[in-house]
Amino acid sequence: MSTETSRNLGTDLIRVHKAITRAITVSNWYSRSSGTPPGHREGFQSYERALVIFLNSHHIGEDEIAFPFIEKKAPHASFDQLRDDHRKIEVLLNEMSAWIDQKDTAWEPDSLSALNKTITKIEKLWYAHIALEEEHLGPQAIEKVLTAEENVQLGKQISAHAQQHSQPAELVLPFMLYNMPADDRAIMAQTLPPVIMEQLIPQAWKATWAPMQPFLLD
Ligand SMILES: [Fe+2]
Ligand SMILES: [Fe+2]
Repeated sequence: MSTETSRNLGTDLIRVHKAITRAITVSNWYSRSSGTPPGHREGFQSYERALVIFLNSHHIGEDEIAFPFIEKKAPHASFDQLRDDHRKIEVLLNEMSAWIDQKDTAWEPDSLSALNKTITKIEKLWYAHIALEEEHLGPQAIEKVLTAEENVQLGKQISAHAQQHSQPAELVLPFMLYNMPADDRAIMAQTLPPVIMEQLIPQAWKATWAPMQPFLLD
């Protein structure tokens, strides 16, 4: 069995999926008519923006780094399905972006209802997608396919890629970490430079991410 000291990328993947699953569920709830109190609307738009950026970044990282690496060692037709799911979800994330970019009209009933429909479609694709993905990239699959060195090597590549694409970091990193329960967050934080948890999130980045707090975990 892997432990946290011998990193297993499948375990990291599940943590990230759990954070995204929570964010999709929260988004679905608050995009229902009357779900978001007026005082929290700016924060909700930031939360949706962070979700779009983070989910896109997660998929690009899988398409460009994780899938090609793992597919070489364990080819399977499911990778084509997984890539196809990413493309379908990307179209829906573009619809979410269009809603986020609206100003006053975003909260009109028709706009909000369209957003909720889009998120519901993402949610449906998402659950089937992560079930298939975790079959091929979950902890047990990764344990069979990757050596300890490959876990470290691929983990570094994925982290560097995620940091490059999850921008602005002051919005997207707090979003990722605070959609995770505290135990997962503590483990994920160990993969980041300490300055992020110790100084940037509580101080310099606070004004950017604080409006999302009503939708985040403590
Ligand atoms: Fe994934
Ligand atoms: Fe995926």
